[in-house]
Amino acid sequence: MSDKFVLSEKIGKVGLITLNRPDALNALCESLIHDLEHILERYESDSEIHCMILMGSDTVFAAGADIKEMQHKTYMEAYKEDLITKDWTQVSALRKPIIAAVSGYALGGGCELAMMCDFIIASNTAKFGQPEVTLGTMPGAGGTQRLTRSIGKAKAMDMCLTGRIMDAHEAEKAGLVSRIVPVEELREEALKVAQKISSYSLPILMMIKESVSRAFEMPLSEGLRFESRLFHSTFSTEDQKEGMAAFVEKRHPVFKDQ
Ligand code: CAA
Repeated sequence: MSDKFVLSEKIGKVGLITLNRPDALNALCESLIHDLEHILERYESDSEIHCMILMGSDTVFAAGADIKEMQHKTYMEAYKEDLITKDWTQVSALRKPIIAAVSGYALGGGCELAMMCDFIIASNTAKFGQPEVTLGTMPGAGGTQRLTRSIGKAKAMDMCLTGRIMDAHEAEKAGLVSRIVPVEELREEALKVAQKISSYSLPILMMIKESVSRAFEMPLSEGLRFESRLFHSTFSTEDQKEGMAAFVEKRHPVFKDQ
């Protein structure tokens, strides 16, 4: 099925979402973000979907928020409408896993959108950057926060203060991306990874995501306690009984998402 600036396709238990505004290098205008929100909501509430992929084209993931749309805004307008913040929180609020598959430019809001996903698989041509400083502004969708937590202060300061671009290999070395694949294999590789994830129990996937995500919000002692509580709760699920029985009986588990 196809919405205006965002395409979506169900492939088994995977929701594949493609940013589709090629003339503007997938610049994240309001309509695109609304289309994206709509599709994310649909997949989040679709019990058949276990994992989502967010991708762009071979040459661009997204070149950032739409500069032309923002250019004349006053402070009062930006503040009152909660510019960027209001409409962009959906990806990071998802409870199901979502992978960013990034090829070409992921700049400004594009890099921030990728970082809102659970992890990034990059093509060898991926280019990451927070160039807002060159526009007389600064990252406004988590760039100074998520990038710093992901690659550390020195590199995050370097990227945000200079606006320079980081290639896929530097990004992998720095911990921004989990793996790099040749550009022509990105879609298939991301699908393979998402299908692997989707073969597991959905509630267990959601608990794992919730627990890893809490690592960024809590001190270690509380994070460990949180993990421990969720771990214990997995023993109330049918899927834990099935997964362990299947191991003992040397067969594949059949998870029921219960
Ligand atoms: N917003 C609006 N339009 C954009 C855009 C953006 N972020 N990025 C590219 N475009 C448009 C261009 O204006 C151009 O449109 P026209 O043909 O109508 O002129 C079209 O896309 C193609 O772009 P270029 O001709 O510039 O393509 P290029 O290959 O020469 O350069 C690029 C590619 C280096 C990515 C360059 O387009 C660029 O620097 N884009 C802006 C990147 C940027 O600064 N992003 C940060 C935005 S601010 C932000 O995101 C704030 C936040 O934190 C949320």
